[in-house]
Amino acid sequence: MSAAAAPSVRLVEVGARDGLQNEALTLSPQIRVQLLRRLAGAGLRTLEAGAFVSPRWVPQMAGSGEVFKALPTLADVTWTALVPNRQGLEAALAAGCREVAVFAAASEAFSQKNINCSIAQSLQRFQEVMVLAREAGVKVRGYVSCVMGCPFSGYVSPEAVAAVSAALYGMGCYEISLGDTIGAGTPAATRRLIEACRQVVPVNALAGHFHDTYGMAVANILAALEADVRVFDSSVAGLGGCPYSPGATGNVATEDVLYLLDGLGIEHGVDLDALVDIGEFINAELGRTTASRVARAMLGKRHARELN
Ligand code: HMG
Ligand code: MG
Repeated sequence: MSAAAAPSVRLVEVGARDGLQNEALTLSPQIRVQLLRRLAGAGLRTLEAGAFVSPRWVPQMAGSGEVFKALPTLADVTWTALVPNRQGLEAALAAGCREVAVFAAASEAFSQKNINCSIAQSLQRFQEVMVLAREAGVKVRGYVSCVMGCPFSGYVSPEAVAAVSAALYGMGCYEISLGDTIGAGTPAATRRLIEACRQVVPVNALAGHFHDTYGMAVANILAALEADVRVFDSSVAGLGGCPYSPGATGNVATEDVLYLLDGLGIEHGVDLDALVDIGEFINAELGRTTASRVARAMLGKRHARELN
């Protein structure tokens, strides 16, 4: 990869969904809307705004309908939502959502724990979602979880991930986001994963979704960039964790990805300073400190300037 050959990357901001769904405090729809509006204002163009899942399973995402109804329509911004089944899609459509994501796993154990069905059953449900979404003119993204291992069953082979990716792409998902749910991946494993998946899904339809549990997420993004992946999911302030994975942290912090891309001379269109401010806003709401190394460094610099 060279900067000239890779002038731009598209970021999918998942903080308001993947991040907040794993925080101990549940934020009101109003605060979530404020967060999303500010993130869009900072230049992010694709933002996961909620999940139409059972509030009994994920209470943090209750009120996603209210969030969608309150979000402004902006010409170049896409607000997206997770839907696990027909019921979720219908609720998303009723709230005005114009893009959704279905989520499968490459591990049977995780599929059962996360959505209470087998991988095959989930793919069957998604077929129905695809048909209805197509009729409604709504785009569908596909997630595959546990691409670098499962918190319950351990090793997951790249071939297993490729098989689920191919099924989702085959049924019409326009992009497949490869989720390192437990953040256990390394650059070498990332290379093997992309190599297996690009055999069955065009590489320009693959996205990287790295959690940062072992501190490898930025390195994994670099490995994926070198393997021609150009879409990455990230969370402001590295929000989140994983309830099934003790010690797991959230998604890679958007600020850390921006700093990496700036260093590589790759366009992203996002204001890093604004992201640091937004991170401070949401951290204050949650009573937490940032998980972004870059935000911590930039805040430290700002603080030092204020003292001088
Ligand atoms: P179930 O209990 O098997 O569902 O849950 P059911 O069809 O038997 O229905 C049971 C009840 O749930 C019924 O309500 C339904 O109406 C309701 P009741 O009659 O008992 O009052 N229900 C729903 N409610 C709201 N929205 C819906 C819905 N569907 C049924 N869409 C279900 C199955 C899929 C619903 C449940 O397991 C669930 O909601 N799971 C969501 C889990 C989740 O959101 N996990 C986090 C997202 S995945 C992730 O984070 C990974 C990712 O980031 C990538 C990565 O990092 O790897 C994407
Ligand atoms: Mg995730």
